[in-house]
Amino acid sequence: MKFFIDTANLEQIKEANDLGVLDGVTTNPSLMAKEGIKGVENQRKHYVDICNIVSGDVSAEVIATDYEGMIKEGEALAALHPRIVVKVPCIAEGIKAIKYFTGKGIRTNCTLIFSQGQALLAAKAGATYVSPFVGRLDDICSDGIDLVRRIVEMFAFYDFKTQVLAASIRNTQHIMQCIDAGADVATCPLSAIKGLLKHPLTDSGLAQFLADYKKVNG
Ligand code: E4P
Repeated sequence: MKFFIDTANLEQIKEANDLGVLDGVTTNPSLMAKEGIKGVENQRKHYVDICNIVSGDVSAEVIATDYEGMIKEGEALAALHPRIVVKVPCIAEGIKAIKYFTGKGIRTNCTLIFSQGQALLAAKAGATYVSPFVGRLDDICSDGIDLVRRIVEMFAFYDFKTQVLAASIRNTQHIMQCIDAGADVATCPLSAIKGLLKHPLTDSGLAQFLADYKKVNG
């Protein structure tokens, strides 16, 4: 399973990238706003800065919700860097735009997926990734991981090449559940990725090894 980091924070992206296991980055308008990145030119520069840190795909989301606007914005985003993936919301205009981008060889991430039917439409339009939102479904007492599993099974059954990018991951347990569900990618906060490292037996075992070494070697 590939790991993307879900942030627009350059320090966190660098920290995750330095671990050597980062495969890409996802952003959204809320994450960009959280970093205080204002204005189209600054936002586009920020995407390029992210691409210069990581060697994997970087999702950049369109703001337009009409077909023409999405095409214009998506083409400008895709032209910024070869690893930009244009993120498009799962609405009717978005599905049409994904179909257009697919024809032009522009890769896409269909976002705000909350049902198997939405994922099917995005895959039929040729999306590179679909992003089911795990945490937001869990928030309303629905089962986000079950949706990931059902989309993975559907794509395998019909032999779609679209990758399942589990999004809205809130904690380390979600990451483990994404592995069980067969997600191609999980996009996670840095804290959830670092949580995978935590184990008290690792800490106590290392402390014992170092103490034993010190006993003999001083
Ligand atoms: C990523 O592509 C999504 O935009 C993101 O994971 C949403 O996460 P949230 O539900 O925690 O805001």
